[in-house]
Amino acid sequence: PKLSTGELKALVRTVPDFPEPGIQFRDITTLIGHSEGLSASVHHLAEIARAKGAQKIAGMEARGFIFGAAVAVQLGIGFVLVRKPGKLPVSTIGVDYALEYGTDRLEVDPGSITGGESIIIVDDLIATGGTALATAQLLRQAGGTVEDALFVIDLPDLGGAAKLQQAGVAVQTLMQFE
Ligand code: PRP
Ligand code: HPA
Repeated sequence: PKLSTGELKALVRTVPDFPEPGIQFRDITTLIGHSEGLSASVHHLAEIARAKGAQKIAGMEARGFIFGAAVAVQLGIGFVLVRKPGKLPVSTIGVDYALEYGTDRLEVDPGSITGGESIIIVDDLIATGGTALATAQLLRQAGGTVEDALFVIDLPDLGGAAKLQQAGVAVQTLMQFE
């Protein structure tokens, strides 16, 4: 029997003062190390993606690969790699996005996307939403239709889900940590 989302929440470890003093880091290590925790997390995400008619799943390096690829396998659809810079062996399209301090960049192989196909974004966690918003922009630039993003964990105080909704990306998450 699969675990409920409430039971999944209890499997997430909270590490105080990482990466900086005062931050409570929500760590998926314990969730994915638990056999039913991993499978039930994937199952819940996949059922949402199935209902939305996903034609492809996109996941962001690195933790998005874990859940995104598993969801794609469960649905029998393909997976799009959204990578940190300099990793893909072909010419890419990229987007730079702001972090709290400085900027970061994500890249995709435009050949991994067929024009107009419905791509659902999957990642482990949404905090400020910067990573997911940049991903949506990138996938849209490559010709994909992006209307939904799914996350295991939402940190609603950081406003990421609201930011995505403003960009026309509906957000669903399995659990929240205030
Ligand atoms: C984490 C997490 C999300 C992102 C969320 O990834 O897995 O992708 O940050 O933060 P945001 O909503 O404020 O953008 P990180 O960049 O730490 O990389 P990792 O997956 O390689 O650990
Ligand atoms: N946990 C994991 N990843 C994160 C967090 C967190 O609390 N905040 C931003 N990225």
